[in-house]
Amino acid sequence: MVNRNYNRPVLIKGARIVDPGRGIDAVGDVLTQEGRIASAGPVLAPSDVPDGTHSIPANGLVAAPGFIDLHCHLREPGYEYKETIATGTAAAARGGFTTLCCMPNTDPAIDNEAVVELVRRRSDADAVVRVFPIGAVTKGRKGKELAEMEELASAGVVAYSDDGDPVYDPNIMRLSLTYTLDLGMPVINHCQENGLCCGGVMAEGWIATRLGLPGIPASAEEAMVSRDLSLAEMTGGWLHLAHLSTAGSVDLVRQARQRGVSVTCEVCPQHLYLTDEWALGYQGDLRCTAGPRNYDTSTKVYPPLRSRKDVEALIEGLAEGVIDCIATDHAPHEVASKQVTYQDASFGISVLETALGSLMSLVHDGRISLSTLVDRLTVGPSRVLGPSFEKYATLETGTPADLVLFDPNAEWTVDTRRFASKGRNTPLEGVELKGRVVTTMVDGRLVYQDYGD
Ligand code: DOR
Repeated sequence: MVNRNYNRPVLIKGARIVDPGRGIDAVGDVLTQEGRIASAGPVLAPSDVPDGTHSIPANGLVAAPGFIDLHCHLREPGYEYKETIATGTAAAARGGFTTLCCMPNTDPAIDNEAVVELVRRRSDADAVVRVFPIGAVTKGRKGKELAEMEELASAGVVAYSDDGDPVYDPNIMRLSLTYTLDLGMPVINHCQENGLCCGGVMAEGWIATRLGLPGIPASAEEAMVSRDLSLAEMTGGWLHLAHLSTAGSVDLVRQARQRGVSVTCEVCPQHLYLTDEWALGYQGDLRCTAGPRNYDTSTKVYPPLRSRKDVEALIEGLAEGVIDCIATDHAPHEVASKQVTYQDASFGISVLETALGSLMSLVHDGRISLSTLVDRLTVGPSRVLGPSFEKYATLETGTPADLVLFDPNAEWTVDTRRFASKGRNTPLEGVELKGRVVTTMVDGRLVYQDYGD
């Protein structure tokens, strides 16, 4: 449900406004006009509302700045059979995300000005939310030679990453971190010591043993997190760690922060919500109409789903602020690459459309406040991206009207046939979630409205 042309003034009436950047959590009205926030605060008098304003009654709903995802895979160019900018951004709108940063593991990789320009043109034509490309750290993401980082900066990338693969070579990592000092953008590393992965496909532990699948130890992530923290400390460069998944990684970042290392990091909804037990068919106490499925290849993701102890440490790190933000790592894949053996399946989960529903469980269970959750989806990622993104993470008067309206208590069942994303690869198929996006707005345009379809 996308209407890109709708930009009459809109009044969202009687919502719970959660705007952590301004310290606001109160019931009130939001008025948007000419693509900007005209006001977001106390209830407006009728005389303050322009004629012709479209009014949305929002009692019981939450109005927040649109979510910012600094890690997703839109697959264009090269893998349009998995996702396109059109379908990925439509999925984002359904999920309440108004800004996406897309990873460069495309074909060709986003490692030069021409590919950045191509992504920009396709986004201008097809995207319903904002899209900002992330440039590769190395040419072709091959890990051998630094990409032209300055050319990429001038072309408009917002960060650098070889995501999907780590920057293996410590000298290249060192150099790229040194360049961030001039470029003013982070290097985002996917931490995976391949020498320790040994073809692993899920978390190492008793479940992998019982399923007869090769495991990936926590140290595969932690060894590279340690290396990168040490390089960030040495260079003073700007390091952002992608998709942390282990308790040990959270501790390493906590300690590095105390030493003053310039590091930020993210966690994904799947690592806060699911454990490796899901590969065994266990679904905790969640209600799921699809029934348990073992060896379900939709649970195969990098980094792997881990133990309950890891999940607990990630939630604590998020609540405490050691983990700056939540990023989806939305990784859509075509059916054929998942309808194979667990070992042969592609790594990745389609996340954009289930993120809010799964994350709201943390709020419903009293693990984090609603304001903290919204902070980690808005202010947190905007800080990683730098001051020019602050305007997208607030409902302050005069900022672009990028916002999400959601029902925190609406229960719904994940039905991938309704996904806008081409990627139906989620272990949450059939699972009942509580928390549903109702409306998403970008630049004052309604880009998604839930008509209960
Ligand atoms: O599971 C994953 N899939 N993890 C990544 O880091 C890359 C992603 C992909 O591109 O499919």
